[in-house]
Amino acid sequence: MCKIIAIANQKGGVAKTTTTINLGVGLSKVGKRVMLIDADPQGHLTMGLGFPKNLRVTLKTMMENIIMGLEFDPREAILHHEEGIDVIPSNKLLSGMDMSLFTVEDREKVLKEYLELLENDYDYILIDCMPSLGMMTINALSAADSVLIPVQPQYYAADGLMELLKVVKGIHQRFNPDLQIEGILFTMDSSHYNNSKRNKQAVRDAYGAEIRIFDQTIPRTEALAETASEGVSIFSYYAKGKGAYSYQALVQEVLNHA
Ligand SMILES: Nc1ncnc2c1ncn2[C@@H]1O[C@H](COP(=O)(O)OP(=O)(O)O)[C@@H](O)[C@H]1O
Ligand SMILES: [Mg+2]
Repeated sequence: MCKIIAIANQKGGVAKTTTTINLGVGLSKVGKRVMLIDADPQGHLTMGLGFPKNLRVTLKTMMENIIMGLEFDPREAILHHEEGIDVIPSNKLLSGMDMSLFTVEDREKVLKEYLELLENDYDYILIDCMPSLGMMTINALSAADSVLIPVQPQYYAADGLMELLKVVKGIHQRFNPDLQIEGILFTMDSSHYNNSKRNKQAVRDAYGAEIRIFDQTIPRTEALAETASEGVSIFSYYAKGKGAYSYQALVQEVLNHA
């Protein structure tokens, strides 16, 4: 059975894309069949894995086919990455999708319908969400079995989470009764700062009782910052560092939760 995980947080720069890539490649390294979906018109996942940004066939094309009820090959958009994962790419043309969806019947479920055509071929599908709570993110949450929430341990982190969790609750009630919270993942953590400890504790105090918080946190490292422009995961770029080690440990926690 395929598990679909949306990686979401309406805040930009909290390591959604970095986590999607490295959790995805990590899962594939232990033998899982993995598909990554770029659901952000910024196309960072697509470019971060070394693919060009002007591709003709993308997630947008696939979703348009669903909307128009056309017969189409759902695999046409799939790209194969050298580290063993498959990718559905996006680029800035996806930014029109929120508007196109506006008049569509069942507009929350277009991505879900598309992924249903692919899910038999994969053990995990990870959706890299855009930094907003618009229609594309709602589509991702409607399609997902669970949502993984990367959080940078900053002062206002607990506040931003409240808004996201409200949306998750709404989706759970209206469109996707099976949606679960995979967990909160602390990312870009500078744990030697007292502030970081305090901010993580604030999130634990506010949500730890009801929501799983991953034991593993992802440290801020130079190598993880650099991989964004290298077209590969941290496992290829710098396998011996603590960035790779921490994503490896996250993979184990996600597997244990399956
Ligand atoms: N653990 C980390 N340490 C250092 N830099 C990181 C780390 N995780 C992500 N980054 C960098 O921070 C920036 C934002 O990360 P990204 O994954 O693109 O966030 P998002 O998708 O949430 O906007 C990128 O330049 C990325 O390379
Ligand atoms: Mg991103």
